[in-house]
Amino acid sequence: MEYKNIIVKFEERVAVITMNREKALNALNDETIAELQSFFRHHWLDDSFGCVIITGAGKAFVAGADISELAQCDIKKALKKSMLGIYLTKTIENFPKPVIAAVNGFALGGGCELAMACDIRLASEKAKFGQPEVNLGLIPGYGGTQRLARLVGRGKAKQLIFTGEMVDANEAKRIGLADEVYPAEELMTKAMEMAKLINSKAPIAVATAKECINRGLDVNLSAGLEFEKMGFGTIYGTEDAMEGMKAFLEKRGAEFKGK
Ligand code: CAA
Repeated sequence: MEYKNIIVKFEERVAVITMNREKALNALNDETIAELQSFFRHHWLDDSFGCVIITGAGKAFVAGADISELAQCDIKKALKKSMLGIYLTKTIENFPKPVIAAVNGFALGGGCELAMACDIRLASEKAKFGQPEVNLGLIPGYGGTQRLARLVGRGKAKQLIFTGEMVDANEAKRIGLADEVYPAEELMTKAMEMAKLINSKAPIAVATAKECINRGLDVNLSAGLEFEKMGFGTIYGTEDAMEGMKAFLEKRGAEFKGK
């Protein structure tokens, strides 16, 4: 599939997506949103890779939704735009493989929202996170008010959204917005190492755990535990579960097949 605004490379069963509109700091225009959406939909059933990494070319991860397009919207278009962004972030969140954000630089507005839709956020020391929409007279529109509050708590989310201030990578880690911080030159190596480590595990177990965690966060604890019970039982129908336990008891490494 041909893309204009993203570069997709497959390396050792890892799909690496590089946001590539460097002249606009990788801002998300409609076309880029559609390309990302298309990637995830197209590869929904593709078992040739086990993990996705999203990163950005140049000094930004993604500096937000494209403001030149936002400035052209009326109420009707703004609602549709928000819907498309929310649809994309939900697609990523529900994608049946882990998606790692390797946040190399500015992750602002829609960029922070894109990173928050990923399962794990690894940040370079150069990364900066923020929801600066109030500076434009706007509010976050791709899930920021919801996911940020869930990740960092309502007080800190309100502080970040009301002030529009950016936080650096270490502060992002401190508040739970970034999961790890690495020197810039190590970011992609560390992201690849993590992706390959995840790839060495049983893929259906990883996908099931992702689904249980995500579904559970939307409901109360009892319902969440019910999801986990069903996931735990269902996984016994996989060859990998049998192989994993057998390998342990035979004191050898497991060979998972994703079946
Ligand atoms: N949309 C469109 N273009 C953008 C952009 C964006 N979000 N962010 C940066 N650019 C463009 C700039 O206009 C500039 O283009 P020109 O060279 O043609 O002038 C180019 O990228 C480089 O940017 P700067 O010269 O501004 O770079 P800088 O290093 O001085 O500043 C920055 C970097 C602090 C990130 C600054 O660019 C900035 O504040 N960008 C806007 C960030 C923002 O407000 N994001 C939220 C957007 S709204 C949103 O995302 C809503 C939502 O939730 C869906």
